[in-house]
Order: sequence, then structure tokens, then C-alpha cells
Amino acid sequence: MKRGLYSVLFAVVVVSVGFGIYAWHPSIAPIKPPAKETFSSELIEKGKVLAAAGYCSTCHTASGGKPLAGNYEIHSEFGTIYSSNITPDPETGIGNWSEDAFARAMRTGVSRDGSHLLPAFPYEHFNKMSDEDIKAVYAYIMSSVEPVHQEKKENGIPFPLNLRFLQAGWKLLFADSSDFEPNLNKSDEWNRGAYLAEGITHCGACHTPRNVLGGEKHDEMYSGAPIDGWIAPSLTSSSTSPLKWRKQDFVEYLSTGNSLYHGSAGGPMAPVVHDGLAALSQDDIQAIATYFADKAGNANDDPTQSPELQKAVDAQKLPDLRIHEGARLYAASCQSCHYSEKKLVKGRPLLTLGSAVHLDEPTNLINVILDGFRADQGIKGVVMPGFRDALSDEDITAVAAYLRETAGEKPWPNLEKHVGEIRRQPRFEQ
Ligand code: HEC
Ligand code: HEC
Ligand code: HEC
Repeated sequence: MKRGLYSVLFAVVVVSVGFGIYAWHPSIAPIKPPAKETFSSELIEKGKVLAAAGYCSTCHTASGGKPLAGNYEIHSEFGTIYSSNITPDPETGIGNWSEDAFARAMRTGVSRDGSHLLPAFPYEHFNKMSDEDIKAVYAYIMSSVEPVHQEKKENGIPFPLNLRFLQAGWKLLFADSSDFEPNLNKSDEWNRGAYLAEGITHCGACHTPRNVLGGEKHDEMYSGAPIDGWIAPSLTSSSTSPLKWRKQDFVEYLSTGNSLYHGSAGGPMAPVVHDGLAALSQDDIQAIATYFADKAGNANDDPTQSPELQKAVDAQKLPDLRIHEGARLYAASCQSCHYSEKKLVKGRPLLTLGSAVHLDEPTNLINVILDGFRADQGIKGVVMPGFRDALSDEDITAVAAYLRETAGEKPWPNLEKHVGEIRRQPRFEQ
């Protein structure tokens, strides 16, 4: 009995010590901020493009704050997280970080002082970057970003989840710490796309579903997930789009914020297109599109010949106004901008083609009806008014239910409850 107890105790001690050794990382000595001349101008320029493509500034700039000075609020289900100041300020930013300290943070999510960082920082993806690319981002930040003195706010994560060393356990269980592995059966273009998508542009951070502890489900890569009050749709062959995503559709969507045969990039996808991917070359966008076209099944059918297209157009014609209130509201509030009898028109998305009406959740459709599209979302410069004040919960429910029905999908359960909940949600800067 006693022997059994000792061996359990012994095992606990061994595991704890083992975990302690695994979890512990040394502090990396501070350095004097490197002089700008240390870096070549090509390296700096490359880093600037990569920093844009990795949306560092989307997450590291607070609303109305100085670029990269941190304290941007992230609302996770575990509590509020504030991003760090990554300007080269030596006291409150990363000015005294050596390149090694920076690379360690980007690859393993460990801060210069040895403490573990939360996976809200997508280091799991940045880990896939080459040494040269990480070096370039470091060169850009150290040489070209204005140092800002601003302390990071304390994260609002409750005890014990706020204990940073516990992150080591999370990493052990869930983090993908493998390097980027090219797939030798695929083309160079495909591999370039995979490298950018899995690494710096971290598409999977939003499009891959997560388990209850927030770990990405690697065997369901890109199959769609909720993110920041939106749904990032599936990018694989499980997509519910009536028309298949082809390579040229991805190219169009990722470079203009809209695909004629699908729809527009709203919510958290808007800055991905306009702040992030916009910095990349057309070749790189083509490469990302090649990679995702493959994930989506390499469709190449001509959409204009598709019966699905004809069905979608017919479904949006002037509705029979006797059907129900939703049909009347669609005719009065949406159709003039969203339907054209002759042909599809860029900037007037046909609603039965977009993912918003085909997803299992009504979230994206309700978000768009409430808040519309700003000029910097979807197609640049094109606006849709929000109907937050013009339509009641009952109205939005009716029009959403009507659109869902015309799209040939099963009704969404508890729709009106969702509308009310989403309306009352605080709106986050996106
Ligand atoms: C999705 C949001 C997000 C994106 C995108 C993002 N970060 Fe962060 N980053 C964070 C958060 C949140 C933290 C702080 C995490 C914590 O408190 O543990 C952080 C922390 C860091 C740290 C650690 C700083 C410190 O003092 O410990 C570095 C370095 C960093 N980010 C660099 C970058 C770079 C470079 C990019 C772009 C290539 C980037 N981040 C993109 C959210 C993000
Ligand atoms: C004044 C014109 C206008 C009206 C009225 C309007 N929209 Fe829009 N809507 C647009 C434009 C323009 C876009 C594309 C915005 C972009 O890409 O920047 C859009 C985009 C959308 C999208 C995203 C497209 C997609 O499928 O991905 C949805 C969903 C949508 N509208 C639903 C509605 C609904 C429902 C109504 C009626 C309650 C409505 N809209 C009324 C102009 C309008
Ligand atoms: C910050 C989270 C986030 C990141 C990062 C992100 N996405 Fe998205 N994505 C979304 C959301 C949310 C939507 C839904 C937007 C909408 O319908 O208005 C979306 C929509 C899309 C769509 C349209 C799908 C459909 O069926 O309507 C495509 C294509 C897409 N994303 C590709 C990508 C690619 C490629 C990357 C990486 C380069 C990427 N996304 C990175 C959140 C993200």
C-alpha cells in the first residue's frame, strides 16, 4: 500500500520536474538597440512586406493608437487579451531584443524574459517561416518602426489560466511546432502558396476549427470555424458554396475583396485582404490561390454553364409578395442593389451565391444586415448601408429566413434569438 503510494508520488515528482524543465526557458540578455545601418535596405523592404502580410499591425495597434504599440483588445472565450508593444522602444517594446530573442518568440511563443506567450499570438504559424523571412521582419521593425513608450495592459484572464508557465502544457498538447515541409508531389507554385498560407498569413488561425482548449484541429485544417463574432467558412471541398471555388475565384477574392460567383470579404476577412494580402505580389496571390484551389478540389467548371447559377439567379427574381413578410422586405430593402436580371454585376452580389446564406449559422448574414459594408471592406470604395436602426429583430429574422429559403437550405433554428443576441453584442473594431 505504502510502496504503491510512494511510486505514485515518485511518478508525480518526475513528471513535475520533467514538465518544469520543459516549461523553463532562459531569459535572453537585453542588447543595445541595433543601428539602422546594420540591415540592408533589401532586407528591410522584404520585412515590411512580410509584416503587412502577417497583419502584425492589425493585432498590435489599438484603435486610435500608434502603429505596433500594442494594447489592441482581443476577446477570447478565456478572457480579454492585450497585444504587446512591438515597437523598438527599449523599455516597453522590443528595442532591446536580439534577433535570437525575436526568432525564439516567433517560433515558440516565448518572450525575451523566458515567459510563455498566449496562442492569440499566432506563433504556431510564424514558426513555419524561414530564418531569412523572420530576420527580415526583425530588420524592418528595428529599423523603420517608430519607438513608442507604452506599457502593455494586463490580460484579463482569470487564475489559474493566467499562469504563463501553464502555456507550456498547452504547447506540448496542441502546438504544431514542426517546420514547413514542402510537398515534393506538388508544384513550386503550390509550395510557395502553402508556405505563405500556413506561415506568415496564417489562414488556418481563423479557418481551422479549434478544440475546447483552443488548439487547432490539424486534421480538420481549413474546414471552417467561428472567429470574433463571425464564421470563417470552410475553404476545402466541404465548402457549402453553390458554385465551386476555382483558382481564379480565389485570386479575384483575395486581390479585390470580392468574387463575382461568391461574395464579399467582410468582418475580420476585410483587413486580411486589404491590409495583409495587398502587400504581396500578384505571383504570391496566385500561389496562395493555387494552394487553396487544390484544397477545394481543383474545380474548373465554367460557372456560367452551371445549373446552380441559373437556380441562384431565378431564386432572387421579384418574389411573390404574398409569400410572407420576408419577401416584401427583401423586395423593398435589398433587391434593388442585389439583383440584376441580365447578368451578374461586380459590386452587386447575388445573395443566393454567397456563403452568408449557405453556412450552418446565420451569423455572417445577420452581421452584414445590421452593419453593412464600409468602404474599406469587401470591394474597396463600395458601401452597403447597415440596417441596425431601420429593421427590427423581427424584420431581420423575416428577411434572413426568406433568403435562406430561396437559397434552398433548411431553416436556421432559433433565428430570431440569434438576431437579438448578435444585435446586442459589443461591436469590435475590425
Ligand atoms: C491575431 C493577432 C496577432 C497577430 C496577427 C500578431 N500578433 Fe504578435 N502578439 C499578439 C498577442 C495577443 C501578443 C501577446 C500575447 C500574450 O500576452 O501572451 C503578441 C505578442 C507578440 C510578441 C511578444 C512580445 C513580448 O513583449 O513578449 C512579438 C515579438 C510579436 N507578437 C510579434 C508579432 C509580429 C512580428 C507579427 C506579424 C508578423 C505579429 N506579432 C502578429 C497577437 C498577434
Ligand atoms: C444600397 C445598396 C445595398 C442595399 C440596399 C443592400 N445591400 Fe447588401 N451589399 C451591397 C454591396 C455594394 C455589397 C458588396 C460590398 C462590398 O463588396 O464592398 C453588399 C454585400 C452584401 C452581402 C455580402 C455579400 C455576400 O454574399 O458575401 C450580404 C449578405 C448582403 N449585402 C445582404 C443584404 C441584405 C440582406 C440587404 C437587405 C436587407 C442588403 N444587403 C441591402 C449593397 C446593398
Ligand atoms: C482574422 C481571421 C481570418 C484570417 C487570418 C483569414 N480569414 Fe478568410 N475569412 C474570415 C472570415 C470571418 C470570413 C467570412 C467573411 C465574410 O463572409 O464576409 C472569411 C472568408 C474567406 C473566404 C470566402 C469564403 C466563402 O465561401 O465565402 C475566403 C476564400 C478566405 N476567407 C480565404 C482566406 C485565406 C486564403 C486566408 C489566408 C491568406 C484567410 N482567409 C485568412 C476570417 C479570416
